[in-house]
Amino acid sequence: MKELIEALGESISGEAFAKQKYELFSEKALGEEDLMCANLFKALSFAESIHLNNHLNALNKIAGTSKNFEDITKIDEDELKDLVKSTLVNLLNARVNETFEFKKKYKNFVKLAKKEDQEVAMLSFTYARMAEKAHAELLNNCLKAIHATKPMEEIDFFVCKNCGNVMDAIPSKCPICEKPSKYYEKITI
Ligand SMILES: [Fe+2]
Ligand SMILES: [Fe+2]
Repeated sequence: MKELIEALGESISGEAFAKQKYELFSEKALGEEDLMCANLFKALSFAESIHLNNHLNALNKIAGTSKNFEDITKIDEDELKDLVKSTLVNLLNARVNETFEFKKKYKNFVKLAKKEDQEVAMLSFTYARMAEKAHAELLNNCLKAIHATKPMEEIDFFVCKNCGNVMDAIPSKCPICEKPSKYYEKITI
């Protein structure tokens, strides 16, 4: 169980860092007048906060604690600011992270939670894993648009408040967690 509790702690720190990083990436894109990427990074930031809360609930339930995420993680603001580059580089950075999370990190953590028979952690990791895959695809679309040097359209993004999935339209039900459309929130910068 120790390993699973550590995995939840590591995931909470990772999501808290990603949440703030994408907030800064969104501001940077806005400064470059790239509204599509600014909206996407803002939506991703909100999605990571959903993952953070889900992991935190799982940790508290399993460990019998009532911790806040500030008890678990401390963000190095300077490290964060150093990561902000051009929006093109920021998109590449984010795609690397999201891809690693769904292909490796959360894949392993889902297995670990399964082995420990901890359903709440299994669900939290599974939602994060599937949502990170969707995030990587959306980042890919933004990168393609930049490479095609098409004028950037302003696209709205919507986030599922239950699983952190991000879409460019509200589905009738969430393709990841199957919650109804009312769980989707439009994200505005
Ligand atoms: Fe993500
Ligand atoms: Fe969902």
